[in-house]
Amino acid sequence: MPRIDPETVNKILDTADIVDVVSDFVKLRRSGANYKGLCPFHNERTPSFSVNRARNICKCFSCGKGGSPVNFIMEHEQLSYQEALRYLARKYNIEIVEKELTDEERAAQNTREAMLAVNEFALSHFEKNLLSTSEGRDLALAYLRHRGISDAMIERFHLGYAIDKGNELITAAASAGFKEKYLVETGLAVESDRDGRRSVYDRFRGRVIFPIHSISGRVIAFGGRTMRSDKSIAKYVNSPESVVYRKNLELYGLYQAKSAIARKDRAILVEGYLDVVSMHQAGIDNVVASSGTSLTEGQIRALRRFTTNVTLIYDADPAGIKASLRGINLLLGEGLNVKVLLLPPGEDPDSFAQSHMPAEVEQYLAANQVDIIAFMADIMMRDVSPNDPTAKAKVINEILRTVAFVDDPVTLQEYISGLSRILSVPEDVLLGQLRLFRAKRQEEAAKNAQRARARESVAEIMPAEDAAVADEKAAVADETPLLKLDSNRLRPYEEMLMRYIVRYGLLYITDIADEDGNIRPGTVFDLIDSELSLDGLSMTYSPYAKTYQAVKELRNGSWASDRARHMAETEAECARRLEQARENIRNTAGSIAQAEAMEREAQTAVDRFKSEALNDFDAGYCQLHLANSADDEVRNTANALLVERYTLSRIYSKQENVETEQDQLHVLVPRAIFELRNAILSDMLAELSGQLAALNPAQADEALEIMKKIGEYKELQRELVKILGERIILPRS
Ligand code: CTP
Ligand code: MN
Repeated sequence: MPRIDPETVNKILDTADIVDVVSDFVKLRRSGANYKGLCPFHNERTPSFSVNRARNICKCFSCGKGGSPVNFIMEHEQLSYQEALRYLARKYNIEIVEKELTDEERAAQNTREAMLAVNEFALSHFEKNLLSTSEGRDLALAYLRHRGISDAMIERFHLGYAIDKGNELITAAASAGFKEKYLVETGLAVESDRDGRRSVYDRFRGRVIFPIHSISGRVIAFGGRTMRSDKSIAKYVNSPESVVYRKNLELYGLYQAKSAIARKDRAILVEGYLDVVSMHQAGIDNVVASSGTSLTEGQIRALRRFTTNVTLIYDADPAGIKASLRGINLLLGEGLNVKVLLLPPGEDPDSFAQSHMPAEVEQYLAANQVDIIAFMADIMMRDVSPNDPTAKAKVINEILRTVAFVDDPVTLQEYISGLSRILSVPEDVLLGQLRLFRAKRQEEAAKNAQRARARESVAEIMPAEDAAVADEKAAVADETPLLKLDSNRLRPYEEMLMRYIVRYGLLYITDIADEDGNIRPGTVFDLIDSELSLDGLSMTYSPYAKTYQAVKELRNGSWASDRARHMAETEAECARRLEQARENIRNTAGSIAQAEAMEREAQTAVDRFKSEALNDFDAGYCQLHLANSADDEVRNTANALLVERYTLSRIYSKQENVETEQDQLHVLVPRAIFELRNAILSDMLAELSGQLAALNPAQADEALEIMKKIGEYKELQRELVKILGERIILPRS
């Protein structure tokens, strides 16, 4: 699906009205300046879903979901960003002009399409082989029947067969007009070069074929299972990664399972192709497979579109369970609720589903899935004798290390109480230990983010193969003392600044002197940006850094031209209004004096209209583009910043005549900048005092050096407080 051109995107975002959009799904009632209704994202009896038309956002005060119109539609209809835009375009009858592609984009798209077309051809070829060649029927179909797979499942999963010959598919594809190049790029054909002689042959030969579909149902890859039990050949051959197949983003069976996953609000994760097929056959249709590897973040994100509840099925082999612990941390860290199900000894999902009635499978699932943490505690405590406190402590730590990945406070509390009971350890002991692991985890996350950033900035000027060098540099940067900023501690201060940026970023706030000393009108963002760069500071929390960068791009990119266009439209409207007023004056004024008075009045009204229109445009520009950004991280960050404060908001309602936050920006923004600086200085001072305390009496010189620095920083801090008094910038006139 081609991308929608930016101008149309703007039109859609400008038009979409939150009350209107939400009303299609939620019955709203007016309540003060807002609208209220029952939250569509969770079950409730009393309405906690609130819609704010002035700010064009919605939010559930109970479950926290909501955001801009696009966000609401994405979440509610489980659509991608582009799909949500198309939905809104349809709703408002906005015609989508498909974007003119550059030659490069068109070529890339053509390659993709050509590869998908070849895959499509191969799929039906394999299906035909299975059902209507004698080799396919006698060997492969017989094999599938022997494995208990029904015709309905063969059809549902489009199972097929690859003939056991060197280039059967290649030949068929060639005579159907497909270029060999694309067979090679999808991996259906393998190129080899022996003694300078190039040859191509089919990757899949004599194998049962399991096609892998994308979420939207395109065939992107294949897995082929041998029918032989010969241990010396690979059980499976799989398509390689390609432009259309990113292995760590795909889950086998998700296309077939996604609606059941959304409906049942739970996904069941198994290992293999046959596990998925057999479970579906037993009527358990919310099952997907990670294809034998451990889960990746990308796969979890794909799942998250449909549910936050997952059940992992394990065979009863403790080694296997321990091996998959890493995957569990990842799941918990992404905020998923994880249950596990142990199968009877010797069974895997496939064998279990094949040897039981569907109702029995369903019942077994319902009765035996248990929460992951309780499960871990149970399994691990089995090996610990009651009078071995060291072993017990080790187990407790291991469990808490996993619990530390849970972020939801309610779930956390439940885990702690449960564990306290199971392990007979007091809750506050567990909590104390948990805090340590959480701090450690956050530190690691911050470090990783910092490394990633360092790598990125180096990557910009260096070729990719130098990433290792960059890594090393990042590690060195980590060890540089003193200026090591604690991202966790700074985050609330950065958050405050980001809030002002997202809400009012491009609103004129004060005149600023640039590097050459020229005075220029500055926006909220300009002010923050110039102050931060003065000290060489930037956002340390990576989602903020990215959002900040997005604002910078808006500031230096589309803003000026969009603003000029908006200004021209406003001018035209002003001229229209003035003309109309004059017409009115001509018809009604009794005297020249009266006419002049009316003219002045009309001029004032038009002037006010003009300044308000521009003001609204500038004030809303960042919100509009960030809260609806195509980039997931930017959009989510912006929406979080928009809805969060809105919880406490009183000053925001435009209808009320109170002093608004917007009117106070000339005080609030400099204060927020000051607070960030001050926090950094305090950190440095604390670090220095620590260094001082760690010295021994013999290190007098070092002690003096540090004390000198402490003096300097203290002076800086005093200065800062003084400057703040002077720096309160003039209010907007
Ligand atoms: N797998 C693979 N290559 C292999 C072995 C396994 O890609 N050589 C992947 C496949 O996606 C497979 C999954 O790991 O489905 C699970 O492996 P396994 O349990 O061995 O295979 P099953 O699919 O269960 O097949 P069967 O029941 O026929 O043994
Ligand atoms: Mn199996």
